[in-house]
Amino acid sequence: MTSRSVPLEWILDIEKPAFEGKGLARLDGRIVFVPRGVPGDRLRVRPTKIRSQYAEAIPIEVLRPSPDRVDPPCPYFGTCGGCSWQHVRYEAQLAYKRELVRELFVHLGGLTQLPEVAPPIGAERLFGYRNKLEFSFSPRRWLLPKEIATGEVLDRDFALGFHLPGRYDRVLHLERCWLAPEIGNRLLQAIGQYARSRGWSIYDPHKQAGYLRNLVLRFGLRTGQVLVNLVTHTDEPERMQEMADWLREHFPEVTTFVNNINTRPAQVARGEWERVYLGPGYIEEQIGPFRFRISANSFFQTNTEQAERLYELLRELGEFRPTDRLYDLYCGAGTIAIYLSPFVQEAIGIEEVPVAVQNAEENARLNGVQNVRFFCGDVRKVLSEALLSQYGKPDVVVTDPPRSGMHPDVVRLLRTMAPERILYVSCHPATQARDLKGLIDRYRIEVIQPVDMFPHTYHIETVVRLRRL
Ligand SMILES: C[S@@+](CC[C@H](N)C(=O)[O-])C[C@H]1O[C@@H](n2cnc3c(N)ncnc32)[C@H](O)[C@@H]1O
Repeated sequence: MTSRSVPLEWILDIEKPAFEGKGLARLDGRIVFVPRGVPGDRLRVRPTKIRSQYAEAIPIEVLRPSPDRVDPPCPYFGTCGGCSWQHVRYEAQLAYKRELVRELFVHLGGLTQLPEVAPPIGAERLFGYRNKLEFSFSPRRWLLPKEIATGEVLDRDFALGFHLPGRYDRVLHLERCWLAPEIGNRLLQAIGQYARSRGWSIYDPHKQAGYLRNLVLRFGLRTGQVLVNLVTHTDEPERMQEMADWLREHFPEVTTFVNNINTRPAQVARGEWERVYLGPGYIEEQIGPFRFRISANSFFQTNTEQAERLYELLRELGEFRPTDRLYDLYCGAGTIAIYLSPFVQEAIGIEEVPVAVQNAEENARLNGVQNVRFFCGDVRKVLSEALLSQYGKPDVVVTDPPRSGMHPDVVRLLRTMAPERILYVSCHPATQARDLKGLIDRYRIEVIQPVDMFPHTYHIETVVRLRRL
């Protein structure tokens, strides 16, 4: 089909949810992906990409709304890439996530003889649930269509908010994020105004120059503690000390303020070094009977309430015995190993970020847990024959890798270690399905239980229990 024969508009019925929160429709035997398309919708759409097997299109008008549609409360919805399903009833979001997990396991993973995917464990708190927010500064503000329409003169050289999906250099300026707790939104506004009032420059990725890069906020939702982390391109101690004094005066809720300095071009909200200007440099959060210390750069589940449900689920599914040796792979700040420590003889955690391992060791000490041990490094290297012969093979493994999943060497190591049970926790079921494929000739998949850590987004956490054949 040539571009001249492309129709400007199509009318489509959305049949089912597709990946990344899109809706799937069919037209003349071709699959069409439509962002914000909800199953049951009839939409007028404009095609943006046409390939032989599939096409992409953006909605222009809802001709007949799906019964699953609701009004999204957030005015940035549709432009901001953070939430894709605020316009979908929560029960329907859960049903879509369940369907997508099944689809990924069966079609993408090619996995057969699967148990039914259990209904996802839903969240009670649907807004304000995030205990971590990562905002970006940008000298190029992306305006909402309605901001352009007002004709008001807006400052386009300053934005503090979220990157537009797929645009590393454009940021949507936010006054508020609906997933943030109230203190997070007050800090977002005030810190943006503070930086502007002082005329601090913003890092420009094209020029690789400028000062401000990211604002990262972390909250102990159950302890009331708040961490502010400003990520900058250069190290300016005087400025930061001044800001610490300002925070102390205006935000007594802030219990610690740190500055990460990232001099590299990579757009990551993590510095090569960190300075602490206020408080201890970490916050604490409570999960079950345990209190966890979290630094700016340690991984911690972003939804505290659902993390507790997830860890409780692991306890139930693990069928732990007091004689068990547990390995917690990709353990972050040691939370899973510590949470499960009362139910096993000993636990070994492996994690590659040094400050997270430091947190894990402190967390064990703080909670009086003596049967856990942590190792720092890439799981692929640390999980060696030497480690196994020194500390013994595991009876149970909990593995919770990043979105990229496990390295094939780690899958091979799991096969040779052959623990009786594996609990595979994943925030990306596509890579989980791929990794499971490397295990199913030795293991039976017994349980597939999604947990919704991220209401209004298309993301889903999935726990799979495997038992050795
Ligand atoms: C999804 S988080 C899991 C954290 C932890 N289980 C929890 O519930 O808080 C994945 C963790 O794996 C770590 N990580 C990523 N790649 C790694 C690797 N190759 N070896 C060891 N740790 C890794 C990350 O730093 C992160 O802490």
